Parts: sequence; structure tokens; C-alpha cells
Amino acid sequence: MTAGSLSSLWARSGLVWLVAAMCFGLYLGITEQLQIHPAHAHGALLGGVWGMGFSYLHTRIADDAPVAGGLWQWLAFNLGTALFVAGLWLMLSGTMTPLIPIGPIVVLLSTIWIAVSLWTRMK
Ligand code: HEM
Ligand code: HEM
Repeated sequence: MTAGSLSSLWARSGLVWLVAAMCFGLYLGITEQLQIHPAHAHGALLGGVWGMGFSYLHTRIADDAPVAGGLWQWLAFNLGTALFVAGLWLMLSGTMTPLIPIGPIVVLLSTIWIAVSLWTRMK
């Protein structure tokens, strides 16, 4: 995919995360489950704020060039964030499973991949 189409994809997923995380925050407040707030915070910050951050950074790539693996980077980061949020939600509700670290590890690795691929290509 080109950098321009990836920028729109990242912006759209960021907007979806933002609205979903706000609904989640409202739900946590109304149901008085404030102890779960880190799940809400990381959905809004990683999916929403960083989704839009990556959208902006893709506009800085010269000549709207194709980005090899760009769609996979988007998929890995967003699925990793969803797993991270679900894992935090489970953990903070008192359910521990060995699957909990998978989400943050996928988020970290995909972020390193995105950072390396953007680093040399920015205007
Ligand atoms: C309609 C919008 C939102 C609602 C209803 C909402 C609701 C909440 C609630 C109920 C808490 C827990 C507060 C506590 O434990 O005392 C919280 C914490 C938090 N929210 Fe939201 N939130 C919203 C939007 C956002 C957005 C857009 C972001 C980030 C971009 C965000 C980031 C955070 C963070 C970082 C915390 C943890 C704060 C702390 O540790 O003190 N929230 N939110
Ligand atoms: C793989 C990435 C990340 C991991 C593993 C991670 C992990 C954590 C952990 C373990 C906590 C403590 C939660 C608690 O006190 O119960 C925390 C808190 C926090 N993190 Fe992250 N974090 C990540 C990324 C980020 C990013 C990118 C942001 C900001 C853009 C962020 C913002 C915060 C904030 C504001 C808090 C304090 C509010 C809260 O308790 O929810 N984190 N993080």
C-alpha cells in the first residue's frame, strides 16, 4: 500500500479506537469499575492517539511511496493493542492467564518494525 492510503487507514482505526475507548471509559465510570481504567487508557492512547500519530508520520514519507509490509504493520499493531486491552481487562478483573503478555509484546515488536521502516524514509 502507498504511504497515503496507509495514512488514511491509520487515521480511521485511530478514530474507531477513540470512540470505542470513550464508550468503554463511560461504561467503566457508570458501572463503578474504575480499577479497570488502564485497559481504557491504553486503548485510547495506543489505538487512538498513536494510531493518529502513525497516520501523521505516514504523510511525511516522500512521494507517497509504497510501504513494504505496511498493511501487516497496521494489522499487528491494532490486533496487539486489542489483545493488550482484553488482557488488561481480564487481569484487572482478577483472571490471570499466560496469554496476557502476548498483546504488549506484539505491540512493542510492531512499533519497532514501524519505527525502523519510517525512520529512513521521512522527508
Ligand atoms: C468520553 C470520554 C472518556 C470517558 C468517559 C473516560 C472515562 C474514564 C474513567 C472513568 C477513568 C477512571 C478514572 C479513575 O480511576 O479515577 C479514566 C481514566 C483514564 N482515561 Fe479516560 N475517559 C474518556 C476519554 C479518554 C481519552 C480520549 C483518553 C486518552 C486519549 C483517556 C485516557 C485516560 C487515562 C490515561 C486514564 C488514567 C488516568 C489516571 O491514571 O489517573 N480517556 N477515564
Ligand atoms: C507495549 C506498550 C505498553 C505497555 C506494556 C504499558 C504498560 C503499562 C503498565 C503496566 C502500566 C501501569 C498500570 C497500573 O498502574 O495499573 C501503565 C500505565 C500507564 N501507561 Fe502504559 N504501557 C504501554 C504503552 C503506553 C503508551 C504508548 C502510553 C502513552 C501514549 C502509555 C501511557 C500510560 C499511562 C498514562 C499510564 C498511567 C495511567 C494508568 O494507570 O492507566 N502507555 N502502562
